[in-house]
Amino acid sequence: MGKSFEKGASFKVANLVEFKNITKRFPGVVALNNASATLREGEVHVLVGENGAGKSTLMKILSGAYTPDAGGLVVGGRAIEKNSPALAAELGISMIYQELNLIPELSVMQNLFLGHEKQKLFFTDNRGMYGEAKKYLEMLNLNIDPKTQVKNIGAGTQQMVEIAKALSKDSRILVLDEPTSSLADSEIKELFRIIKLLRDRGVGMFYISHRLEELYEIGDRVTVMRDGSVIGTYGINEIGMDKMIEQIAGRAIRSLFPHARKEARETVLEVKNCHGDRFRDVSLKVRSGEIVGLSGLIGSGRTELARAIFGIDPYYCGEILLNGKKVPAKNPQKSVARGIGLLPEDRKVQGLSLLKGIRENMVVTSLDRLGRRGFTNMAREKNLCAGYVRSLSIATPSIEKLAGFLSGGTQQKVVIAKWLIADLKLFIFDEPTRGIDVGAKSEIYRLMDGLVGKGAAILMISSDLPEILGMSDRIYVMAEGRIRGELDRGEATQTKILQYAYRQESTGGVYE
Ligand SMILES: Nc1ncnc2c1ncn2[C@@H]1O[C@H](COP(=O)(O)OP(=O)(O)OP(=O)(O)O)[C@@H](O)[C@H]1O
Ligand SMILES: [Mg+2]
Repeated sequence: MGKSFEKGASFKVANLVEFKNITKRFPGVVALNNASATLREGEVHVLVGENGAGKSTLMKILSGAYTPDAGGLVVGGRAIEKNSPALAAELGISMIYQELNLIPELSVMQNLFLGHEKQKLFFTDNRGMYGEAKKYLEMLNLNIDPKTQVKNIGAGTQQMVEIAKALSKDSRILVLDEPTSSLADSEIKELFRIIKLLRDRGVGMFYISHRLEELYEIGDRVTVMRDGSVIGTYGINEIGMDKMIEQIAGRAIRSLFPHARKEARETVLEVKNCHGDRFRDVSLKVRSGEIVGLSGLIGSGRTELARAIFGIDPYYCGEILLNGKKVPAKNPQKSVARGIGLLPEDRKVQGLSLLKGIRENMVVTSLDRLGRRGFTNMAREKNLCAGYVRSLSIATPSIEKLAGFLSGGTQQKVVIAKWLIADLKLFIFDEPTRGIDVGAKSEIYRLMDGLVGKGAAILMISSDLPEILGMSDRIYVMAEGRIRGELDRGEATQTKILQYAYRQESTGGVYE
């Protein structure tokens, strides 16, 4: 690992990475347009920008996954003529992606040393690897046996194992592409502790996130990108939140959360004393015209409850009623026909056909309404889709682009549009704005407000407390599979939600 680097010291700061006027084109898109940026030793360099701005593409040029059409890359003072994944690894570059890349069937230790196993004479040095794996895990405060199979540990821990993997390779340059989106708050704290530890050892890190609050906690410098161009690079203390938002979106966003709500009317969804595999004795109501927030920690049973209501997972005892009629259990197709839509938390796997175009994905649940079963009104359909592409500023040259080629956040926008187009009575949104840029977030909030204004009911699961507080008319808080509290918009505060979300004994130490 590089020598440690004192922040603010007066000697010349070494650049670990220099991107020099990089341009990268894909069919119909300029993903990077003359983009330049540097990474210093011992810094966390934050990259922000709208979905499709080019952040991941820039990082993939560093990791050797993509070759630029023009421009230069310098790593550790050395001009890299032809980068490749193998060369990048040799140069000490590691990537941690949002989607986990561990192999579930292998043990933690096997994953750590995959591709760079230790050898002793002609044999794999299992003992040596075990000892070393233990060392890295301990460094990260991870209390797991290196022999545990990866499929048996949670998503947060897997993320940590990814970091241990980077440590085991002695990386000097680390890229974290939206690492916190599947982590619980306590896990984020732990991740930040490790990032700071690595920074003190001189590791340089690019850090991508749409959660702007966390950037101020972890970042040293920030680079804002828009439409493939670098808009500017700032010391994190030189740029306030409002200015950052304005730079990202290209416009000022006055009020993020609209709230022009009508009175709540008749009950649309009623859950009565329901039990599932991961939740117990849940009762709740969502009425027409209201947004009900479902808060709680990751793993508190919120997603499982949503899946049961939608009919993916089974439930026992109790009843789930839509407009007073029982929702058929374990039948998502029927749920959609009856007017329930679920925006799942894991969009890539559950919500999208990667081999179909944007338009096909958007209309798939609304074929009846759009008249596609009889004769096709293609012009109307195209208009509708183009409208959502505009209002959600979906970065694409055409509404026919294959979903698989879209940026992560853009894929999510397509799934959201799909449910917005479908004419539903009850929308269940599971983490609706995770990974979504701030401009589109405000647009999604406006559309949600419009839906309840027209009489729909929304149940919104979110780990983002400002979002829960800003959007909900009522809030339920879940902990360990049970509803622990209900709060009205007027009385809800972050503290009250957290008090319900954390059980007494685990309150101390997590939030100071
Ligand atoms: N393999 C590819 N083929 C075609 N287009 C691509 C490909 N990879 C990226 N793009 C396009 O390049 C642009 C930049 O995408 P990129 O993934 O870098 O965005 P991003 O800033 O990481 O966005 P997000 O915040 O949503 O992750 C997008 O318009 C995207 O559709
Ligand atoms: Mg990305």
